Amino acid sequence: MIKLKPRDAVLKMAAYSPPTGGRAGKLRLDFNENTVGASPHVVSFLKEQLTAGGLSVYPEYAEAKSEISTFFGVQPDELLFTNGTDEAIQVLVNTYVDGGDEVLLLRPSYAMYRFYAEVAGASIREVDYRHEDLSFPLEELLGQIQSRTKAILIANPNNPTGTGIDLAGIIRILAAAPHAAVLIDEAYYEFCGITALPLIREYTNLFVSRTFSKVYGMAAMRLGCLFSQPANTGFLHKAQSPYSVNTLATLGARAAIQDTQYVRDYVKQVIEARDLLYKGFERMGIAYYPSQANFVLFRAADRAVEIRDKLRARDLLVRDRSYELPGCVRVTVGTKEQVRKFLDAIEEVW
Ligand SMILES: Cc1ncc(COP(=O)(O)O)c(C=O)c1O
Repeated sequence: MIKLKPRDAVLKMAAYSPPTGGRAGKLRLDFNENTVGASPHVVSFLKEQLTAGGLSVYPEYAEAKSEISTFFGVQPDELLFTNGTDEAIQVLVNTYVDGGDEVLLLRPSYAMYRFYAEVAGASIREVDYRHEDLSFPLEELLGQIQSRTKAILIANPNNPTGTGIDLAGIIRILAAAPHAAVLIDEAYYEFCGITALPLIREYTNLFVSRTFSKVYGMAAMRLGCLFSQPANTGFLHKAQSPYSVNTLATLGARAAIQDTQYVRDYVKQVIEARDLLYKGFERMGIAYYPSQANFVLFRAADRAVEIRDKLRARDLLVRDRSYELPGCVRVTVGTKEQVRKFLDAIEEVW
C-alpha cells in the first residue's frame, strides 16, 4: 500500500488541539467566551427564521452585509464575512503570503496566527511580549520589520497576555511596513474600547477583524468580520469560498446587533467582575497581570497544571498557559457571581 505524504509544511507542524471536549455542565472559564450566553433576542429570532425551506437554500449575504456594515460604520465593500476570525486569518494569509515569505508574529499570542502561517509554508519570525509586565514590544517589533515581511498579525488586546497596543503604536507599525498586510485582531475590542477600524480609510495595508464569538456569545455560530479597503477586500473575496459563512450565523448576527444594550450590560458586568477578581488575587497574594480583556493571567509558579486539574475536579475550567508563559494560568472573567465561585474554589486549592 502506498502511504500518502502530506506537504512538508504540514508534516513539520505541531498538531493544535485545544481542550474543547467534556466542557458541558462545568463553569467554563477557559475559552474567553461570554459566560451567560447569547442575547435571548438572538435565540428567538433564529427560531422564528428557521424553516425547512430556508435551510435548503445556499446563503445570500446582501441583507446581512447591508445591516452589519451600517452597524460597524463601514461600506459593504469594506467588509468580508468570515467563518469566525479563524477564517479571516486564513484568507488573509492565503491572499498575501507565499511559501517562504516572512510572517511576523508576537509571542505568546493567539495560536491560529502561527497555525495558518505554518500551513502556508511561511517563514515565521516571533517577537516576545516584554518579560517584566507582558506589555507590547513595540520597538522590538519595529526592529524586526524587513522588506520580505509579508504579514504582521497582532491581537489587540492580546490573548493570553490581556495587554494591548495604543493607536499611535499601531500607526507606527503601519507606516513602517507599507508592503505588509497588517492584521489588528479586535476579538476583545468591546472590553477595551480601542479600535483601529477607522484607520482602514487611511492605510492601504491595514486589516481589522471583529468576531461574534466573544462578547456576543455566539462562538458556536462562527461569524467573523474582516475590514479593509475595497481594493483589498476584492482580493480577499477571490481567495475565499463563496459560502463559507452559514445563513444561521448571519441571521444571528443581524439579531445581535439589534440588542446593543445586552452587550453593554455584559461588558459592564465583566469589568466590575474583573476588579473583584483582582481584589481576590491580591487578598490571597496571587500575582496577576492586569488585563484589557475578559480574561486574566495569574501566576501559580510550578503548580499551574496542578491548580488547573484541582479546579477541574471542582467543575471549574481554566487554561494552563505554562507551556508558553512559565507558571501562568488564564481565567476568563464572567459575572461577579462566577468570579466569586472561582475565588472560593482557588482559595481551597491554593
Ligand atoms: C485573539 C483572538 N482572536 C480570535 C479568536 C477566535 O475567534 P473566532 O471564534 O471568531 O474564530 C480568539 C479566540 O480565542 C482570540 O483569542
